[in-house]
Amino acid sequence: MTPVWSQLANLAAALAFIFALKGLSTPKTARLGNRVGAIGATAAVGIIFFAESNLKHLTLILVAIGIGTLIGFIAARKVQMTQMPQMVALFNGVGGGAAMAVSSIEFLRAGESENFIALLATVFTIVIGSVSFTGSIVTFMKLQELMTSRPVVLPLGRFITIGTASATIFMAIYLFVNPANWALWTLVGLSLALGILFVLPVGGADVPIVISLLNAFTGLSVAASGYVLDNVLLIVAGTLVGASGTLLTQLMAKAMGRPLTSTLFGAFTAKATKVSGEVQDRPVKSAGPNDIAIMLTYASKVIIVPGYGLAVAQAQQSLRELVDLLISKGVEVEYAIHPVAGRMPGHMNVLLAEADVPYEQLKEMDEINSEFANTSVAVVVGANDVVNPAARTHKDSPIYGMPILNADQAEQVVFMKRSMRPGFAGVENELLFNDKTTLLFGDAKDSLSKVVAAVKNM
Ligand code: TAP
Repeated sequence: MTPVWSQLANLAAALAFIFALKGLSTPKTARLGNRVGAIGATAAVGIIFFAESNLKHLTLILVAIGIGTLIGFIAARKVQMTQMPQMVALFNGVGGGAAMAVSSIEFLRAGESENFIALLATVFTIVIGSVSFTGSIVTFMKLQELMTSRPVVLPLGRFITIGTASATIFMAIYLFVNPANWALWTLVGLSLALGILFVLPVGGADVPIVISLLNAFTGLSVAASGYVLDNVLLIVAGTLVGASGTLLTQLMAKAMGRPLTSTLFGAFTAKATKVSGEVQDRPVKSAGPNDIAIMLTYASKVIIVPGYGLAVAQAQQSLRELVDLLISKGVEVEYAIHPVAGRMPGHMNVLLAEADVPYEQLKEMDEINSEFANTSVAVVVGANDVVNPAARTHKDSPIYGMPILNADQAEQVVFMKRSMRPGFAGVENELLFNDKTTLLFGDAKDSLSKVVAAVKNM
């Protein structure tokens, strides 16, 4: 029987998780939310030590906690803002893997004596936790550029995926009928392979959606492992992650104009597509900071399109300085925020908030898209895919169907980037070659500082 104090402490920790989620829903209270969540998680671990009377292998457990804490602390301190999604993917995968490992060990311990519901929860955790583990590792490798971020379609890929998925379902059912150890290991192996096959064909605009989906998977597998371990707090925390991850996935899929089924079942229908990531040797129009400064100062309306490169260059302060200068000269300036600009949900909002950009200057895509047609200059700073017209026209493109910012409808377009290299999806951007486009080559921070200096001298 669980002591009453520990039941109450568990309830307090569960409430802390709910308050944390609420806090994280707006930038103003996000830090507080994060702290409350961390306190809840620390309490959740601590409760076990005092509530469990015959805890075995205490030294091993403490050493494992020590190592995990050290790795987490150093990783969180060292990670760059632009590498945050990789870290989330990795930690997410580790969560799914841990749930799978714990359930497998419980299965081996309990053997045939496991009851039907516990066996169901075990099988669910093994399949979903394994898919989340290997799927998240592949996503990590794509984001860290340890492998191509473009869709990878193996020869006969969809047949291999359908075959692996069918074998996984078969083995899961077999494990109920005959809970043998070899069946468990076969199921683990098949599920791990399924996770890889599930994520390999994902590319372009679908990567953010799949990260969120895997996060929801991890939550569900942790909740099921809570049932296996008879731990209420794991069930609550896992369900919260599963539910919020599912909602985020739905919201992102909607914002990206993708049916959720295309992310869920994309691996079963994936066909090889032609993606040209080569840097093309076609003429483009480029200019220096002085020319751009003149263009911007004489504009009546400017829309800034920030993207991943702004975060890489850490140029948010310089951008704000330029915008403030232009506004002081009577130019109307706004920022256009695409839902997947950067590498994580809300990346641009967080980045610009760091530079104290007033929130009312930030306009979401739906709100601002009709304004580009009445805009003198669209300044694309370190963005690429989110303004790529191929998303509207090229059916073969991995970003086809993704709503984009209508930068191409402005009278003139300025791109600040370092080279002619494509963006995350690896797709050529026709807008770079458009007659109305001028490129200012260089690191975004350096380019913006030079433009600021030139505007000041005018
Ligand atoms: P991208 O399409 O990735 O383009 C970024 C551009 O920034 C590149 O063209 C790059 O060109 C330039 N750049 C990089 N470093 C720079 C620097 N220091 N100074 C100046 N320019 C620099 O970015 P986006 O338009 O923001 O689109 C986001 C993409 O990421 C989408 O495809 C989206 O699906 C994907 N994604 C998003 C998320 C979320 S949730 N936001 C998560 C994962 C993936 P150069 O190399 O020539 O400089």
